[in-house]
Order: sequence, then structure tokens, then C-alpha cells
Amino acid sequence: MKSVGIDAVEIWAGKLKLDLPETFAPEKDEDPDKYRKGLGLVNSSFPDTYEDIVTMGANAAKRLMDRKGLKPDDIGRIDVATESAFDNSKPVSTYIAGCLEQVYDEDFHHANKGERKFACIAGTQSIDDAYNWIKAGRNRGRSAIVVATDTALYARGSSGEATQGAGAVALLITEDPSMVELSTEQGYGSADETDFLKPNQQFPSVDGKRSMQVYLARMREAVEDFESVAWDMHPEDLEYIPFHTPFPGMVRKAGLLGYRHMIRDTEIEDELAGEIGRQPREGEYEDWDTYEDAIRDYMDKLKQTDMYQSWYAETIEPTLGLAREVGNWYTGSVHVARASALKHAAEEDIDLTGEQMLVGSYGSGAQAEIHAETVQEGWKEEIEQLTIDEQLAARYDLDFDEYEQVHDVHNHDMTVDVEEFTIPNGEFVFAGIGRMNERKYEYVE
Ligand code: HMG
Repeated sequence: MKSVGIDAVEIWAGKLKLDLPETFAPEKDEDPDKYRKGLGLVNSSFPDTYEDIVTMGANAAKRLMDRKGLKPDDIGRIDVATESAFDNSKPVSTYIAGCLEQVYDEDFHHANKGERKFACIAGTQSIDDAYNWIKAGRNRGRSAIVVATDTALYARGSSGEATQGAGAVALLITEDPSMVELSTEQGYGSADETDFLKPNQQFPSVDGKRSMQVYLARMREAVEDFESVAWDMHPEDLEYIPFHTPFPGMVRKAGLLGYRHMIRDTEIEDELAGEIGRQPREGEYEDWDTYEDAIRDYMDKLKQTDMYQSWYAETIEPTLGLAREVGNWYTGSVHVARASALKHAAEEDIDLTGEQMLVGSYGSGAQAEIHAETVQEGWKEEIEQLTIDEQLAARYDLDFDEYEQVHDVHNHDMTVDVEEFTIPNGEFVFAGIGRMNERKYEYVE
């Protein structure tokens, strides 16, 4: 059996930041702790005036190729996952390949290019496509580049405005990967939902509270489906669980549900029984509402236990470090969570080789997917190459008026003239609109 998975990752953060507790909350007359403690966010990243989904994606992909010493001939497919596309026909991957062709001698004419759409889960689906292509032996020895790139903006004044973000993740999918091998087993939870959507509009229509319930319901189905083909999971089986992270507070809820599910009928449930009782079983209750109340009560107690809190601190918290600093990157978000966990392990000198992670992807509309990943020998060397800390430290800190200007610059229905806040250096930038209404890009030395 071929081992296929993620060989390397690169992350490109939008070059501006909005401090949510200090700059955004006061303007909205909100308590900063809603961000720090409730949503779990400190900053959101935003694209400068010359950045967009193409520049961020191309910059991440170029760094990936340079670092791995790859030439266009080594790449057989470029798949872009995004929900911020500006063209209903020409895929963003063609723009990204066009950018890369400006700086490499060879071209990508041989490479299959596409664009995947299913809200935030499309990045994981693109990895799947690459995985299947390699497993099927159709790759002719070539690797795939997956780029998950989004400018996650909400309409000003909408509930989602608190959870914006922008950035790109580029992933190299290969045989015998250095970083993580993907499990063949997958679980799905998928249903026709209207909690978050963009019917031919740039900014989402969102029912925020309902979207959170749908996230948890689909994730639960996906876990059960995964267990039906893989194994009954126990908390100790998993080193980390990177989830799709629209904001860390969402993952706090998913982590608690997952833990309750995994400890059912185990020695952990027995051990906790003296302190908080046993988990309610549906058959013991007269109706669904009373059963749900009992579950809620059990969960409230469970999350206070030392056992749960230390599991959460070790298994979930390390996946959230980057999300707190960048907000929601939609398609890139779960891949940022994985990188965050691996980065944490490298910094703490934790030996991860051979350990398992469970990855929980999610896209509104709605679908969750669960698969396992086995960490490979080269993980540390790969993750230590990330420059994300330097990128985050170098971001321009927007005041509230500047934030509104940047929001307007990236609003497709507005034409505003705003000076750039940072100076591009060795990167692709947006260079105007062309004759056919196409977007144009150039490389700035
Ligand atoms: P909101 O009304 O801004 O916030 O909505 P809130 O009042 O519900 O507060 C948020 C949390 O902060 C709550 O915690 C509060 O208690 C707490 P919870 O009760 O839920 O645990 N809080 C405080 N804590 C400490 N001190 C305080 C304080 N004040 C409040 N002073 C909402 C939040 C998420 C609904 C909103 O931001 C929103 O609509 N976001 C966009 C939708 C979203 O992100 N949904 C997530 C699930 S769907 C998904 O992940 C898919 C998505 O990525 C899109 C895709 O797939 O393409 C969005």
C-alpha cells in the first residue's frame, strides 16, 4: 500500500491585523473579554490593498516550491480551495500558476488545475483529490500542490464581523510524505443546510448561532461514521485533534462533545462517575427534552473536571495558537490548526513520530469530514521552516478607521483609493484589471 499524505506546508498571512479586544470591541461597545475569553480571538489578519486570494496563494505556493527545491515539472496538479473566488468560470489555480510562471523558467501547461468549492471544507476535499490521484497511480511520479486561500470578510455590522481573517495555506501532497500520512478511512456528516451561504454575493448570509449547532451536529455524524470504518476512539489514542476553527470558542464546544463521546463506556467514565455521575443514557429518560437537559448538565460538570481540562490543554489547546492571532481563514483554517499543533510540539520538543492525530474538517452548507493522520519522521524539520511567527510580528496594526478602509478596498462593489499600509518585498502583488476584466498580477523583487 502506498503511503500518501502531506509532505510540506507553507502559510501566508494577510499583512494587516485588527486587534479585536483593543480596537474592534470598544468601537462596537463590547467587552474585550468577549474576544479574549468567549470567542478566543486576539487579532484577525487582513490583506493589504495589493493582496488578494491569488497573491496570498501564489506567495505561499512559491515559498513551498523554493523551500522544497521544486520546479514546475515536478508538479502534476494545482488545486485551489476557496470560497472567495471572483470568477465563475476561470479557476483561481490558473491565476496562481500564471503568477508562478512569471518567476520560474518552466511552465505548468502539463498540470491539471481546478477549484474546489464547499465552504471551508474544500481545502480538505482538494487534499482528497490529490490523495486519490496519487493512490490511483495517475500522477506519473509528480506531486500535487493544494492551495487553500480566502479573504473571509463579513458585511460590516453582521454578527460574523467579529470572526474575519485572511490568508493562504499551501500544501504539498506526495507519496512517502515527510510530515503526515493520511488514513484511508474517512467519516462524513453531510446535510442540506442553510446556516451560512453566499448566493452570488460576496459577503455571507449567516445565521451565526444556528451555524454553530450545525457544525456540532455534522461533526458528530462524521465521528460516528469514521468509527464505523476505523476504530472506537479513546482520548489516549490521539496526540492532537485539529478542528476547523472559525474561532477557538467553537472548537472548545467541539472538543467537549468529542471527549464525552470518546469516554463513554470506558474506564475514564467510571473514574469520573464518583465526581460527576455517569453519562445520561437516552433510554433512562421519558422524553428527548429531559434527556437533553441531563446531557447539558453532565457536560457542564465534565468540563470542570481536572481530567477533562488536562486532556483539553494537551490535545486541543495547541491547535488554537495561530487561530487566536489570525481569525477564520475558511478553507485554510483546519490546516492552520494542524500546523499550529505541530509547531507547538516542535517548540516543546515533543517526539511525535508515529503518533496519531484526528483531523475534523467542516464546511457550512454543510459537511464535516473526519480522518486520522500518522505523523512521519520528517515532521519537525518541515514545521520548523515556517516563518509564520515573523509574519505575524511584522503585520501593520490597523486603527478602526483604517480597518473600515481596508474592508471597503476588498469589497467587490466598491471602488476606493487607499494607500498601501506595507511595502511589498519579494512577492506577488495585484497589478490592476485587464481588458477582459481579468485580474492582473506581477512579482515585486
Ligand atoms: P456573537 O453574538 O457575536 O457573540 O455571536 P456571543 O454573544 O454569542 O458571544 C460569543 C461567546 O463569548 C459566548 O460564549 C459568550 O458567552 C462569550 P458561549 O456562551 O457560546 O460559550 N462572551 C464572553 N465571555 C467572557 N467574557 C465576556 C463575554 N461576552 C461574551 N465579557 C457568533 C458569535 C459565532 C454567532 C458570531 O461571531 C458569528 O455569527 N460568526 C460567524 C459564523 C461562525 O463563525 N459560525 C461558526 C460555525 S459555522 C463554521 O465554522 C463555518 C464557517 O467557517 C464558514 C464556512 O464553512 O465557510 C463560518
